[in-house]
Amino acid sequence: LEEAKVPQQPLNVPPLLKPDKETATDTYYTVVAQTGETQFLPGAKTKTWGYNNSVLGQTIVFEKGKHIHVTLKNELPELTTFHWHGLNVIGPYVDGGCHAPVYPGKSSQIDFTLDQPAATVWLHAHPCPETAAQVYHGLAAMVLVKDEVEAKLPFPRNWGIDDIPLILQDRRFHENNQWDYRADYDPDGVQGPTALINGTVNPYFDVTTQRLRLRILDGANRREWRLHFSDDLAFTQIGSDGGIMPAPVKLTKLMLTCAERAEVIVDFSQYKPGDEVTLYSDDVPLVRFRVHQFATDETQLPEHLVDIADPTVTPGLPVRKVVMSGMDEEVMIDGKKFAMQRIDARQKVGDVQYWDITNTNTMNGGMVHPFHMHGTQFTVISRNGHEPYPNEHGYKDTVGVNPGETVRIKVKFDLPGLYMYHCHIIEHEDGGMMAQILAY
Ligand code: C2O
Ligand code: CU
Ligand code: CU
Repeated sequence: LEEAKVPQQPLNVPPLLKPDKETATDTYYTVVAQTGETQFLPGAKTKTWGYNNSVLGQTIVFEKGKHIHVTLKNELPELTTFHWHGLNVIGPYVDGGCHAPVYPGKSSQIDFTLDQPAATVWLHAHPCPETAAQVYHGLAAMVLVKDEVEAKLPFPRNWGIDDIPLILQDRRFHENNQWDYRADYDPDGVQGPTALINGTVNPYFDVTTQRLRLRILDGANRREWRLHFSDDLAFTQIGSDGGIMPAPVKLTKLMLTCAERAEVIVDFSQYKPGDEVTLYSDDVPLVRFRVHQFATDETQLPEHLVDIADPTVTPGLPVRKVVMSGMDEEVMIDGKKFAMQRIDARQKVGDVQYWDITNTNTMNGGMVHPFHMHGTQFTVISRNGHEPYPNEHGYKDTVGVNPGETVRIKVKFDLPGLYMYHCHIIEHEDGGMMAQILAY
């Protein structure tokens, strides 16, 4: 990653998508995958894809308990799918993995009732093996799940003012400011030197409240982000992938691997108007927070935030072993490459099972493989037999597995369906480091 050389620009905040129609019980949306152009840099616009927009779409809000109806339209020149990463919905059609293609010029409709806690999840394209290319082109958007439990907690929630997304991505700009996925292709994941935050190069954000809630999503194809603020400013993580965490966790550093989310609250009380607080990844500045006048905010976070279910493992079930191996074109799960016609595993709906995910790839230091499951949220039990990281207590759908490490997770499916699990370095996923399980 390189420091941006263009002037600072205001941080883009993808607006909330307006429903087509809303009743007390039902919400109707239309999501269009479309081509467009985006002004990232001075000079030529960049050709991009996006949902209802040129890039990174609009932010979609779903309310727990509502019946949700989404019309999915594909206005792209190729087939795509609409995957709801982090939503516990019936697979594989609603879930939107590679089993649910929407052909160019066509549309389809999905209907589901949301039954999961408030969380920051996302929508992205998932046509195998073109997921990486399509996400790189811009087919990603943040999705907020809201519920009454979260609504009662003392968190900032004014969208764009004190509750903002930070979708972290990186790109390489070629001649004429264009992206060239094929030219930059790397089977271990495409990276670029320019950080894009919500699609903004070198952004600043005007802080007008003492507390700011950041919903951070690693939306990069391959990159991990090692986040920290100037002055080593401490912040409080309140949520992870699948929702609010049982207790707030104070941090000065936060690492996110591909597809992981973290909700954090930053308190600017020690700053005065005119100050600037910078968010970095390693030593590269990502966002400059410009502090303005704000009203004093005495809000204290409770020590306990939400309850996380901790069901007992179903007696008699062995620990399921999953092995992620290889690099480059050799990536595999359990010694096999993904095949859409093959069901690799089965688990009964309601059964609770430990899964041990091992990353055997340690050559030349190896790589972190972010392990992701569709169709459910799991909990992280241990890393090589030790306590997981302090900010891994809560529901997760993606967990970084370090080289040589075994991460134990506890998995339960509430809905039947065929679900994928895979490495979320998207080129690894497209390269076959993916399998599927039938929850029945
Ligand atoms: Cu975020 Cu299978 O996907
Ligand atoms: Cu997913
Ligand atoms: Cu991987």
